Amino acid sequence: MDYDIADISLADDGEQRIAWAARRMPVLASLRARYEQSRPFEGVRFGACMHVTTETANLMRTLRAGGGEVTLCASNPLSTQDDAAAALVADGIPVFAVRREDTETYYRHLQAVLDTRPDITMDDGADLVTLLHTERTELTPLGSMEETTTGVIRLRAMEAEGALRFPVVAVNDSDTKHLFDNRHGTGQSALDGVLRSTNMLIAGRTVVVVGFGDCGQGVADRSDGLGAKVVVVEVDPVRALSAAMEGYQVMTALEAASVGDLFVTVTGNIHVLREEHFEVMKDGAILANAGHFDVEIDLDTLSKLAVSRKQIRPALEEFAMDDGRRLFVLAEGRLVNLAAAEGHPADVMDMSFANQALAAEWILDNKAKLESKVYRLPADLDQEVAALKLAALGGGLELLTPEQESYMVSWRQGT
Ligand SMILES: NC(=O)c1ccc[n+]([C@@H]2O[C@H](COP(=O)([O-])OP(=O)(O)OC[C@H]3O[C@@H](n4cnc5c(N)ncnc54)[C@H](O)[C@@H]3O)[C@@H](O)[C@H]2O)c1
Repeated sequence: MDYDIADISLADDGEQRIAWAARRMPVLASLRARYEQSRPFEGVRFGACMHVTTETANLMRTLRAGGGEVTLCASNPLSTQDDAAAALVADGIPVFAVRREDTETYYRHLQAVLDTRPDITMDDGADLVTLLHTERTELTPLGSMEETTTGVIRLRAMEAEGALRFPVVAVNDSDTKHLFDNRHGTGQSALDGVLRSTNMLIAGRTVVVVGFGDCGQGVADRSDGLGAKVVVVEVDPVRALSAAMEGYQVMTALEAASVGDLFVTVTGNIHVLREEHFEVMKDGAILANAGHFDVEIDLDTLSKLAVSRKQIRPALEEFAMDDGRRLFVLAEGRLVNLAAAEGHPADVMDMSFANQALAAEWILDNKAKLESKVYRLPADLDQEVAALKLAALGGGLELLTPEQESYMVSWRQGT
């Protein structure tokens, strides 16, 4: 078996942490139990480009429990948990991922996954799909699954241009994914990354959240819960208004730049914090990004403006400005929750990855009729995931009485 990981001797540590994550992934466990019986993925080759974490390890094992043959590489050079990678390899699942791998190695690893000629690919940021539309057009999978907002935006653009070569399921768009993973997962884990790299007290500080989508809302809510004064920067008037009605201050990026103690970018956009903002930031301001790519903070310009740079703590770098101010950047401007902490908690990845597994089943069940489009999973699968998760949390779900059901039917029909 071919693989490329940092250190196989980390397998036991990885195994313990994978088991800990599994305890908090009951929905995935119930799918796994079903797949062990029904084996829906018998002989199906999966190529996955995802954050190599303990939660992803549990997804890989779920697919394998259904008969799938899985190969995994990283979707970000800084997010790989080397012990999780080692545990998977020791368990017979090929992994190509080394934490802090350079760009050349990162792309070699993507190619290694595609060399297995996958029937179904899984992306977190559309990297495999991009290669399948450029360098590897000799391969045409039955379908692909996309985990994140940024990837889905690219795929929808490819669909609109008529360029998409095979069907893709936008797993991100399932309600039981983005309403929970993006909001509660990113909200909590982005602050976890900030806390681990700085050990700062959030209470009483001004936290500027740039982008008030699902992720930004989560970061704002959690910062608020920790006692921060929250400022939101948005370009979409509806979302900006919604932030204002949540009680947050809404400002332009330039206004916010001079008041923020901590900045968290979550827009999926480029250079939302740039020179004009760096110029007015307070001494000691801390800058973090939780959006998919490391482009949201213009680090090239910040490097040029700085007279010196110094690594202060793991994932915390100081940029000294010529006027004596010091700005601090977390995790090189990469996803702070994955690069400086452990990514989303297993409890929330449980739902995201249940959607991934259900999407794979859905592609196989519908392969004859799927076109080269971006699909959303049917609503009944969302309902199934939500009901299973609610039951695992011990929540009771009210059911319509027969009288209520017929009342609603006749109301809808106008009878
Ligand atoms: N850190 C993680 O683990 C994680 C998890 C899920 C998604 N993501 C990524 O986070 C990013 C945001 O995801 P989302 O689901 O919240 O997306 P979203 O589309 O719901 O929200 C993004 C928001 O940013 C706003 N925006 C865009 N440009 C802006 C600018 N210049 N200034 C201010 N606001 C701007 C948009 O109007 C939008 O409201 C994406 O890149 C996504 O892939 C990261």
